[in-house]
Amino acid sequence: MSTNILIAIAWPYANAPIHVGNITGSHLPGDIVARYHRLKGDRVLVVSGTDSHGTPVTLRADAEGLPVEEVYQRFHNQFLDLFVKAGISYDLFTTTHTDNHFKVSQAMFLALQQNGYLYTETRPQWYSPAAKRFLPDRYVEGTCYICGFEGARSDQCDKCGSVLEPEKLLNPRSKVDNSQPELRNTEHFFLDLSKLEPDVAEFLRQRQSYWRETVIGQSLGQIESEGLQPRPITRDLDWGVPVPVEGWNGKCIYVWFEAVIGYLSASIEWARINGQPDAWNDWWTDPAARAYYFIGKDNIFFHAAQWPAQLKGAGAEFSQVFSGEKGAPLNLPYDVPANQFMNLEGQKISGSRNWAVWGLDFLSRYDPDPLRFYLTANMPELRDSDWDWAEFVARNNNELVATWGNLANRVLAFTYKNWDGLIPDPGELRPADQALLATVESGFQSVGELYETVRLRAALYEALRLASEVNKYLDTAAPWFEIKTDKALAAKTVYTALRAIDSLKTLLAPVLPFSSARLHTFLGYTTPLFGEQYIEEQTDALGRHNTLRYRPPADGGKWQPSQLPAGQPLVQPAPLFKKLDESVAAEERARLGT
Ligand code: MF3
Ligand code: ZN
Repeated sequence: MSTNILIAIAWPYANAPIHVGNITGSHLPGDIVARYHRLKGDRVLVVSGTDSHGTPVTLRADAEGLPVEEVYQRFHNQFLDLFVKAGISYDLFTTTHTDNHFKVSQAMFLALQQNGYLYTETRPQWYSPAAKRFLPDRYVEGTCYICGFEGARSDQCDKCGSVLEPEKLLNPRSKVDNSQPELRNTEHFFLDLSKLEPDVAEFLRQRQSYWRETVIGQSLGQIESEGLQPRPITRDLDWGVPVPVEGWNGKCIYVWFEAVIGYLSASIEWARINGQPDAWNDWWTDPAARAYYFIGKDNIFFHAAQWPAQLKGAGAEFSQVFSGEKGAPLNLPYDVPANQFMNLEGQKISGSRNWAVWGLDFLSRYDPDPLRFYLTANMPELRDSDWDWAEFVARNNNELVATWGNLANRVLAFTYKNWDGLIPDPGELRPADQALLATVESGFQSVGELYETVRLRAALYEALRLASEVNKYLDTAAPWFEIKTDKALAAKTVYTALRAIDSLKTLLAPVLPFSSARLHTFLGYTTPLFGEQYIEEQTDALGRHNTLRYRPPADGGKWQPSQLPAGQPLVQPAPLFKKLDESVAAEERARLGT
């Protein structure tokens, strides 16, 4: 049975390029799970986009002396380029700066207001007398009142990970000119999270048994100890989604309130572009659909508490406000498999110090699958992990190339040469051949379950373990000797190995889509394993924006043991991966921090 699976991936801020920590944190795990479900034949919708608003982006534009519009578009286009090259197969990667997103965000705002979850209050806020303006969020830095860290932003502390109440920040200073801001009164809308707390707590308890402990701890744990407090959801800013209430000119909806709505607005945009404007409901109001949110640990509160509160609070009234038609309640997250962080050579990744491995830079020198392999092997699923260049080279050479790439290549090359480029007819298989195939084919269950439950490191290593079984089988059967005495026996071995490799290709495809697709053609298949990514420009009332899209293949549902047909013509094979020289580690380390 096919299930509707929504893969929702954190929206990157348009203020910095994407580095390997971001890729392994959210984009890659989301893509792996999406590709797995597509192979299985589920109906998958993968959405995200550029988080174009908020102070991270305006600060960057200020620093560059350029219009925000220009800066957000520049990063947005780089993101699209990276996702194509890294094979992150979004059905729609859009931006929050679209007319559609504005309307959807405003509709959710109004639905919450209608349902009694918003109120206004005048409160003190940091104001810069020097610049004659309010300074929201990241415009103010100071000392964290929880852990004492001196470089905390007013809304969030990167040291202790707390979400902060801005006006409580100690020793505040303006990021713009270092001047000292003062507190002045301003009126804002608040989302009454305390009213929604019982709903959020119940939602989390229902999911507690299968969520990662790190995520439950930071959400349910926090609610049970501290409860949920109302949070202001508007800001004194002019770049963003305008507050849809008369008399509120010059104020925008808080970026963390509207960016999460992007998952919904992107699904709506996707449906409209596809000419089926109501199709988004299949992922959002069909209770059988499942929504997975791929994010980093700094985003847990917003996705596991605030976003469910928004969805629950807006309820069926969202559709009513948005389209005038009676709708159904909106689905809450099925899972939020948040990752921890990836460090680099033992230190925290820092863009400003260039202590980072940038995605596009990496892909200008290396192939995407070795990146995906290493990032999956090292994914910070339960604790922080580390990108280590020497380990990258070692894993590439000893695991990706030695266990998998060489296996596929030597069997294919040997067959191609000795059986006229055709898959040999094995006749009846021997017990040892059948045993090997049974072992490998058990992976459709075991590896599948690991993908399904988002244990991706384990999924990869279970598939590699099965690949080593094929290596052992080949070492024992030794077809390169067999062929000298009995070519028919060698044909059985080679056929069995090829069929095992064909199955392994599928098991590994979610992690290694590029090389699996190549191997798929080497094996003689003519229908593609995956669909195609392409960039498409959209035009709306706010202007133009590029989107990344995905065209699925005509036939899905390839998550099945190989049925490799004897006689199928092979395509001349070539190595799937390259061995890397040990010197790579030193060369790459020399680039860091400069
Ligand atoms: N832009 C935020 C960040 O990079 C993530 C936003 S996720 C969203 O931390 F869902 F809110 F969009
Ligand atoms: Zn702190």
